[in-house]
Amino acid sequence: MTDPAANASIDHVLIEDRLFPPPAEFTADAIIRSEQQYQDMYQRAKDDPEAFWREEANEHLHWFEPFGDVLQWDAPHAKWFVGGKTNASYNCLDAHVAAGRGDRTAIIWEGEPGDTRTLTYRQLLSEVCKAAAALKELGVQQGDVVSIYMPMTPELAITMLACARIGAIHSVIFAGFSAESIADRNNDASAKLMVTSDGLHRRGKVLELKKTVDEALAKSPTVQKCLVLRRTGQDDVPMTEGRDVWWHDIVDGQSDDLPAEPLDSETTLFILYTSGSTGKPKGIRHTTAGYNLWAKRTFQWVFDHHEDDIYWCTADCGWITGHSYIVYGPLAAGATCLMYEGAPNYPAEDRFWELVEKYQVTILYTAPTAIRAFIKWGDQHVDKHDLSSLRLLGSVGEGINPEAWMWYHRKIGNEKCPIVDTWWQTETGGIMMSPLPGITATKPGSCTRPLPGVVPVIVDEAGNDVDAEHGGMLLMGQPWPGMLRGIWGDEDRFVDQYWSAVPGKYLTGDNARKDGDGYYWIMGRIDDVINVSGHRLSTIEVESALVSHDAVCEAAVVGRPDDLKGQAIAAFVTVADVEPNEELRNELRQHVRKQIGALAQPDDIRFTATLPKTRSGKIMRRLLRDVASGREVVGDTSTLEDLSALAKLREED
Ligand code: PRX
Repeated sequence: MTDPAANASIDHVLIEDRLFPPPAEFTADAIIRSEQQYQDMYQRAKDDPEAFWREEANEHLHWFEPFGDVLQWDAPHAKWFVGGKTNASYNCLDAHVAAGRGDRTAIIWEGEPGDTRTLTYRQLLSEVCKAAAALKELGVQQGDVVSIYMPMTPELAITMLACARIGAIHSVIFAGFSAESIADRNNDASAKLMVTSDGLHRRGKVLELKKTVDEALAKSPTVQKCLVLRRTGQDDVPMTEGRDVWWHDIVDGQSDDLPAEPLDSETTLFILYTSGSTGKPKGIRHTTAGYNLWAKRTFQWVFDHHEDDIYWCTADCGWITGHSYIVYGPLAAGATCLMYEGAPNYPAEDRFWELVEKYQVTILYTAPTAIRAFIKWGDQHVDKHDLSSLRLLGSVGEGINPEAWMWYHRKIGNEKCPIVDTWWQTETGGIMMSPLPGITATKPGSCTRPLPGVVPVIVDEAGNDVDAEHGGMLLMGQPWPGMLRGIWGDEDRFVDQYWSAVPGKYLTGDNARKDGDGYYWIMGRIDDVINVSGHRLSTIEVESALVSHDAVCEAAVVGRPDDLKGQAIAAFVTVADVEPNEELRNELRQHVRKQIGALAQPDDIRFTATLPKTRSGKIMRRLLRDVASGREVVGDTSTLEDLSALAKLREED
C-alpha cells in the first residue's frame, strides 16, 4: 500500500517572526556591506560559475602551475581547476611569509592546565616543515594515509599541514574514539602511519591516548610507524621498539626548510570519517584546490574577517568544523586564531568567557549544544567577565533553537553582535548557507540564505519542486568547489547515498523549507521527519517549542508507531531547577499546544538527566526512536558520547 503522505511536503508549524537587522556600525565596516554586492556575486556564481570561480581561484590561491578548465562535471564526478598545481600548506603559510606577513600571529594556543603558546605564521611554517621532513623520514610518501589521534595542541594542526605539504592524506580521528573505532578507520583507509600523544588533559585528568592507540594498532596491520608527541608527560608510556618514535626525537632536529610539493588540484587532501544514518562510518574525501578555496572564501565572507580580529572556533580538529574553520579557512586567510585544548567547564563553567576576555576574542564560533549547556550552567558564569571585545557570533552543527539563539544574542552578544547560523556538512567542505553579517537581517533559527555558488533546491519525495513555505528534501542543484569527491573506497555508496534521489543533484539528507523572504529553515534530517495523522512535522520545530519553556534545557523529539495516528510524538526532555513531575509534563504539553497547535502536542514526555549525543554533540535521535518504540537499540553506536545516558533512559521505561 502506498503511504498517502508519500508525496507530501512537510508542514511548517512554528511561527518565528522576530527580525534582527545588522547593526549600522557593523555594516559600515563590513567586507560585504550592501545587498547589491551579494546579489551580484550570487548571480554571477550561479549564471557563469566558471568565470566566477576562475577569478576567485586565481586571486585567492597560489598556483605553481595554472589550471586549464575551471570545472569538468561528469555528474556526480567533479574536477575543479583542472591540471593546476597548488598546495594547501603553501596557501596557509608560505603565501603569508612571502607577502611580508610572516610576523603576524597565526595561533594563540592555551592548554587546559593553563599553559600557553603563540606561533607566528613564520614559526608555524618552520614547525610544519620540520614535521613534514620527519614524516618523510618515517617513510610517508605522497598518497599515503596518515591517521592522527591527538589532543587539541598546535602539533595537531602542524601534523595536518605537514601532510598537506608533502601530499600525504590525513585522516583525523577525534581523540575520544575507542581503540575499536580507530582500528576500523585505520583499516578502511589502509593508514600507513599514526600520529598520537602520550595523553591528553580533560577536566583535570589525564587520558592515556597512547594506550588506546596501542590497542588499536594491534588490529591495524597496515600501520607501520607511530609518532608520539609528549603532551601530558607521564612516565609509563609504552613504546614499541622499531615502531614507535617520540616527536621530540625525530621532529625537533629536522631542517625548517622543506618546500611545499606542487600538487595537482584534485590531489586528495584528507579523508574524514563521519557516521551515516546506519552502518559503518564513511570516509568523506576532499581534495586540495577546491576545498582550500571554499574554506578560505567562506571564512572571509561569513566571518567578515578583518586583520585585527582574534578569531576563536571552539570545535575540535577531529571534526570538519576544525578542519575548515580552525585550520584551512582561517590560516589561508591569514587570521589570528585562538585554539583551546580543554573542556568548557574546567576548572569552572566560565572557562570560555575567561578566554574570551583574556585574549580579547572578537569572533566566536561555537555549537548549539555548548550554548544550551551554558544556559543550564547559569548566567552568573558569564556575568563575571567582560565580553565587550566580541563583535560577531557563529553557530554550527545543529539547528539553533530560537530560545538558545535569543540567549546567545542577549547574554553573549550584548544585543550588538550579529549571529551567523551556518548550515553545512562534512560533505560540503565548508559553509553553504549563512547570514552575511553586514547585510543579512537574521531570524532566530534560520540559516537564512545561500552563499555564492550554492544553489539549493527543495523537492518532495516524488522529486517535484515544493512551493515556498512548504518543507521538503534539500538538494544542491549545482556543483561547488568544496564538495566531497567521494567516499573512500566505496563508490557505490557515494552514488547511491548522495546522487540518486534526483540524478545530478546532491542530496543533503536534511529537510528544509524556504520562507516568503527567501530564507531557509533546516527542519532536521530526512529520517527525523514525523508523520502524525498525515501531517509531516519537523522534529526541530517541536523541540524549539519545548525549549522555549523556562524549565526546559534540551529536548529531543522522535516519532514512534501509533495505530491511530500513524506516528505519535515522543519527547525526551532535560530540565533545570525544577522537579520533573506530572504537573510539569502537562504544562509542557499545553505549552507546545499553545506555541504550535494541538497537532504537535507530544504524546509521551520523558524526563531524563542527559540526552544521548554523538561525540560531536548531535542528539542521537535514531537511538531515541528505538527507545521510544520499545525496540532494541540497533546500529553503530561508535560515535555515541555517553552510553550511560541511553542506559538511564531504558531504566526509566
Ligand atoms: O543536519 C544538519 C546539521 O548537521 C548535519 C551535518 O553534520 P556534520 O557533517 O557533522 O557537520 C557538522 C558541521 C558542519 C547537517 O546535515 N547541521 C549542521 N549545521 C546546522 C545543521 N542543522 C541546522 N542548522 C545548522 N546551522
